Amino acid sequence: MLEHIAVRPEKVYLDCTAGLGGHVGQVAQQLTTGHVIANDRDAESLELAKENTRQWADRIWYHHGPFSRLGEALAVNGGRKVSGLLADLGVSRYQLTEAERGFSLQSDGPLDMRMDRGVGQSAAEILNYSSERELADLIYQLGEERRARRITRALIRARPLRSTGHVARVIEEAVPRMGKLHPATLTFMAIRRAVNDEVEELESLLRSLPRLVESGGRCVILTFMSLEDRQVKQGFQRLAKEGKARILTKHVVTPDDEEIRANPLSRSAKLRCIEMVSEEAEPVGD
Ligand SMILES: C[S@@+](CC[C@H](N)C(=O)[O-])C[C@H]1O[C@@H](n2cnc3c(N)ncnc32)[C@H](O)[C@@H]1O
Repeated sequence: MLEHIAVRPEKVYLDCTAGLGGHVGQVAQQLTTGHVIANDRDAESLELAKENTRQWADRIWYHHGPFSRLGEALAVNGGRKVSGLLADLGVSRYQLTEAERGFSLQSDGPLDMRMDRGVGQSAAEILNYSSERELADLIYQLGEERRARRITRALIRARPLRSTGHVARVIEEAVPRMGKLHPATLTFMAIRRAVNDEVEELESLLRSLPRLVESGGRCVILTFMSLEDRQVKQGFQRLAKEGKARILTKHVVTPDDEEIRANPLSRSAKLRCIEMVSEEAEPVGD
């Protein structure tokens, strides 16, 4: 991420997914008069990012909001575009390890999964009130789970679904384990993506890049699942076709063996980078 963003010390950067502040801190360290805007839709993560990046606080502006409201994050920069943007998609280690947030298969927690706890339907509402057709389509399309129908039938029979552990057990009994993955992994991912409108949010981010990042500025996006990588690839290609960006990563960038050994969670990461070439100054919205 850092190699591709190529920080210039006097410029302003936007990290759309501050998480625990890892990338924010790394960028902040390289700044002199510049700033980094640390954005996340999860208020609790943002508080942790603040703590973790305390030593560079004079160079960091924090902003709480989803991708669809990133235009508001530019207010601290006098409404001006930034010189580079980072997005590291998915959930953070914090969200996964806090059982009460309901993201994890490994521990029993409430069926929540909302990144912004103040907004939208929880996983419990989707799992307990969707029709069989809606639920099966959602698990198939957002999780690429080929056993979606069988899983959905078992989930509907077991309603009311009460906790993450309950859902994991029902799925475990309904379908066999394939390889190393827990049989409920893809279903959990699909529900999380539905709860947080992740497809629409990513689309909003991709479409707003020309209004957020100045000409010559880079946008680096890291994804962890093929569906998301495909969406980023197509969004970048569209911007290139419209003459608004130049693709800097002709081929997707993946971690080498050394990086995977040092950080096993990076195994499925895919990185893409573009450089903006347009100067238009449309208002930010949608
Ligand atoms: C993989 S973590 C980022 C970790 C971060 N790069 C770090 O160094 O700690 C992804 C973060 O993105 C946030 N996020 C995901 N989708 C978002 C969206 N649509 N708008 C804003 N934040 C989002 C999540 O809340 C989560 O904290």
